[in-house]
Amino acid sequence: MFVSLEGPDGVGKTTQAALLAERLRATGLEVVQCREPGGTGLGERVRAVLLDPEATMGDRAEALLFAAARAELTEAVIAPALARGAWVVCDRFIDSSLVYQGLARGLGLESIRAVSLFATGGVLPARTLVLHGVDRRDDEPDRMEAAGADFHARVAEGFLELAALEPDRVRLIDARGSVDEVAARIEQALEDLRP
Ligand code: TYD
Repeated sequence: MFVSLEGPDGVGKTTQAALLAERLRATGLEVVQCREPGGTGLGERVRAVLLDPEATMGDRAEALLFAAARAELTEAVIAPALARGAWVVCDRFIDSSLVYQGLARGLGLESIRAVSLFATGGVLPARTLVLHGVDRRDDEPDRMEAAGADFHARVAEGFLELAALEPDRVRLIDARGSVDEVAARIEQALEDLRP
């Protein structure tokens, strides 16, 4: 089973991804945790370039670099894990590209969907949890976080738009409240997928 966690920067995804993986493991499931971009040798190198505040690149190059990191992670880690029946919990996946590159950068949903599905060979999460409602961005922004308030407003709106487009796969999770409260909402949104 493949689950991704999504949302604007600093919404608490990473904490929740770790908690979810831990809870699934406690029920005896094999769980592979990953993050995007990254999770492979190539992916971590591409991540360093993508987030480097000194790096300059056009929007299309940026989209293709995210896709390249995703292709490698899918082939090397996610597809083999799914093939042996493990659960995969990924901190960001295809929907980040749809929102950040497709909607916020303005490259278009359809072209980014095509590039991303090419990258993953069609692999898509069974459920995507979009955390929303809080903004805790870092004081030391990386290249993406430094993109400006307008850009980040488009990102927040973009995730809501995606959830409306694919309501079965993409579920909105209110990220306000305690870590435990948010974890319980996540748990509920996965109930129908659990063995
Ligand atoms: P990261 O430090 O992982 O952010 P966070 O902790 O908020 O998840 O940095 C990833 C950044 O890259 C984040 O700003 C979102 C952006 N991103 C894209 O623009 N497109 C993508 O396809 C992915 C996976 C991430």
